[in-house]
Amino acid sequence: MPHTVLVTGGAGFIGSHTVVELLDHGHEVIVLDDHSNSSPYALDAVTKLAGRPLAAVYRADLRDRGALDAIFTSHDIDSVIHFAAKKAVGESGRIPLEYYDINVGGTITLLRTMHDHGVHRLVFSSSCSIYGDTTTVPLAEDEPAGPTNPYARTKHLCEQLLADTCARHGELSVIALRYFNPIGAHPSGLLGEDPTGVPNNVLPYMAQVAVGRLTELPVFGADYATPDGTCVRDYIHVVDVADGHRVALDHLDEPGLSVFNLGTGSGASVRELLAEFSRAVGREIPHRVESRRAGDVPVLIADPSRVATAWGWRTTRDLRQMCADAWRFQQSHPRGYQPL
Ligand code: UD1
Repeated sequence: MPHTVLVTGGAGFIGSHTVVELLDHGHEVIVLDDHSNSSPYALDAVTKLAGRPLAAVYRADLRDRGALDAIFTSHDIDSVIHFAAKKAVGESGRIPLEYYDINVGGTITLLRTMHDHGVHRLVFSSSCSIYGDTTTVPLAEDEPAGPTNPYARTKHLCEQLLADTCARHGELSVIALRYFNPIGAHPSGLLGEDPTGVPNNVLPYMAQVAVGRLTELPVFGADYATPDGTCVRDYIHVVDVADGHRVALDHLDEPGLSVFNLGTGSGASVRELLAEFSRAVGREIPHRVESRRAGDVPVLIADPSRVATAWGWRTTRDLRQMCADAWRFQQSHPRGYQPL
C-alpha cells in the first residue's frame, strides 16, 4: 500500500538513498532537512534517479514546532522516517548540548507534533554505537547498552523515550533500526556520501585520498587483538540500509517499540577495507599507521538474525560492491555535490 511519508534528514547520506527507494516503490515523500550537513543537490539527484518528483521539500529545523506543525497540516502524512540528527562521535564530546538539543530535543518535538496530528507510525534511525565498549561478537539486540560518548547516548536516550512514549500511547508503532557502518553509494554514481569538512569516517576519508583531496589515510591503530591488528567493523551498503527502512514501513502494524540491527553479520578490518577499495580504484591508497583513536573498540559485528526472522530480510550487497559504488560516486563528484 502506498504511504505518504515524511522523511526528516532526507537530503543526507542515508536519507537520500532511502527517499530513492521509497519513490521507486510508489510512496509519496515529503522531505524536511536543514542542510546543516547535506546538500540540496542530493535531492536533484534523487528525483532524477526516481524519475518522479517529491511531494514537497522543506528547509527547516526539526526543533521548529511551528514549521513542523505547518508541514503536518499541509500533508496527509501517515508515516515518518526520522534521520535528522548530528552524528559525529568526536564532535559530540566538544558540543554535547548541541547533540542533546538536536538529537533528543528534535525527536521530542517530532513526537509531539505527530501526536497532535494523529500520526502513529515512525521508523527511527538508531545506531550500533549504543552497544558501546563491548567484547561480544556478534551483537544481538538484547545485549546491554553501554554508550560511551554523547552521540551514542543521544541515540540510546531516544530509544528509551520512544519506549516510554509507546507505553503511554498504545496507538504508536515505532521501529528503531540500529545500523552498523553504512558505506557505499547508489550504483548509478549520482548519489553518495558528501561529508562537510574533513571526513571522520574511514571510507569517505580513503575516497578523498583516492581523488587527491587528502594525502594519506591515517590507520588508527594496528595493534588491536584482531587478525591483522586493525579494527573490525560490520560495513553495510547504504542501499541495503535504505531498503531496510522501506521494508520497515510495511511492518509498522504492531503497537510499541521494536528494535532491529541492520548489519551483514560479517566484519572487515581497516586493512581489508583498504585493500578492497584499492582494488576498486585500481591502485594502492596511500596510508600510514597512527596511534589508536580514543573510543574505538576492536570489533563490532551485528547479529542480523532478528530482522531476518521477523521480516525475512537480509542484506544483499558485499564489500566489493560497497567499494565499487563509493568509488564511482567519488570519481564522478571529486569535490562532492555540484549543481546537476
Ligand atoms: C562511528 C559510530 C557509529 C556512527 C559512525 C558514523 C561508534 C562505536 N560508532 O562508527 O555509530 O554511526 O561513526 O558517524 O561510536 N578509521 C581509521 N582512519 C580514519 C577513520 C577511521 O583507521 O581516518 C578506523 C577507525 O579506527 C575504526 C574504523 O576505521 O576502526 C571505522 O571508523 P569510522 O568510519 O569512523 O566508524 P565507527 O567509529 O566504527
